[in-house]
Amino acid sequence: MTIMEPYRIKVVEPIPLTTREDRERSLSRAGYNAFNLRADEVTIDLMSDSGTGAVSTAQEAAASMGDESYAGARSFYRFHGVLSELTGFPHIFPAHQGRAAERILFGALLEPGQITLSNTHFDTTRANVELLRCEARDLPCPEAADLDSQAPFKGNIDLRALEQTLTGPEGDRVGFVIMTITNNGGAGQPVSMANIEAAAAICRRSGVPFLLDAARFAENAWLVTQREPGYADVSPTEVAKRAFRLADGCVASLKKDGIAPMGAFLAMHDPEVASRCELILTATEGFRTYGGLAGHELDRLAQGLREVLEPDYLRSRAAAAAHLARLANEAGVDVVQPPGIHALYLNAGRLLPHIPPGRFPGHALACQLYLEGGIRCVELGSLYLGTLDDDYELVTPAPYELVRLALPRRVYTQSHYEYVAETLAAIAKRPESVPGYRMVETTPILRHFNSRMEPV
Ligand code: F0G
Repeated sequence: MTIMEPYRIKVVEPIPLTTREDRERSLSRAGYNAFNLRADEVTIDLMSDSGTGAVSTAQEAAASMGDESYAGARSFYRFHGVLSELTGFPHIFPAHQGRAAERILFGALLEPGQITLSNTHFDTTRANVELLRCEARDLPCPEAADLDSQAPFKGNIDLRALEQTLTGPEGDRVGFVIMTITNNGGAGQPVSMANIEAAAAICRRSGVPFLLDAARFAENAWLVTQREPGYADVSPTEVAKRAFRLADGCVASLKKDGIAPMGAFLAMHDPEVASRCELILTATEGFRTYGGLAGHELDRLAQGLREVLEPDYLRSRAAAAAHLARLANEAGVDVVQPPGIHALYLNAGRLLPHIPPGRFPGHALACQLYLEGGIRCVELGSLYLGTLDDDYELVTPAPYELVRLALPRRVYTQSHYEYVAETLAAIAKRPESVPGYRMVETTPILRHFNSRMEPV
């Protein structure tokens, strides 16, 4: 039986339909970097699931009640009420987006020279740790290395490595442990409740704060109910509540599971950490009852945070991701298994074996998806993660050459995804015709945003 989306479309936005010649011109002008394309040159935009979701009628109704008072706005108390019940944290602050929440909480917790540990730091999370002159170290579980296995929780942290680091010679340099749920940098794979519980217990024994990066807390909760023994009859809300209650603090970009264009929060138990955060928040984001967000945005988020945990919504979203993964596989394109929810990760290295890592097979597949079908997505491979020499030639490749198809919430229908699969199938029929790419210009940091490339 088809799993339907539990909503219908009420307001529509036309999507640009372009010709192959248009797209060739656009991509060449953009220096073969999708970040330089204009949105009106893109037919299906799978670049990010962040801030790209469709809002509901109830969210817009809530936003119309937005209270724009400078301090103590009703909107803040509605936002705070939802998050307080969900997370149980006594101190909760809004921020304009996830990386601002990271900067504030990490600034309050870290001293230069410390280490942070994670299943996988997201790239802004890593950057915020490094900006404080600390080292961000990833400890993904061993199952994560096998892209094809059906292991259900490949987003887990390696508990043995965590324990060894915390009890070893570097243990006293660890500033905090942060668990990213779901693990975006780790192919969008979920983290089990057993893993969160065990990691929290290890941190407690070592006296190290245990944090969540909870950007996709609802999607992680859904995958727990589907994959973890003992959770089949537990609601996603209850799973999420239990996860938050295992942590000492959290940061979350609400541009994902808040289903709104902008927003985030940070929260913690420790009142001293909270007052340090409040000072930085007030100086850099905004007063504690708005944190860089407008009242109407806080109300939209409060409602989005309720809707995102509805089982019918999560079931249909997971089904859409699984459907696209199946179609991609049938078309001959391998997807990191088992498919998660917020994105599919295509194995470009395997599809394009004639392109060596130094000619960026992931980037080549992403460019080809645009040229063939106007589909925008980004590489997660050697362009993003490899190291280069002064002539922009690859020195150390990334472990895998992947492409992420991020799936915006409530935006595309089954026929859009079928079109994506058909485009993939057309590429997979003659993969040897896809050219590699050479880097012609870049910047020392944030290379993927700024590089200009050319086909070779
Ligand atoms: N943490 C995770 C796990 C994320 O995926 C992101 C953003 C952030 C933190 C930062 O949040 O964008 O609100 O500042 N991820 C987006 C993406 C950009 O496309 O995956 P932000």
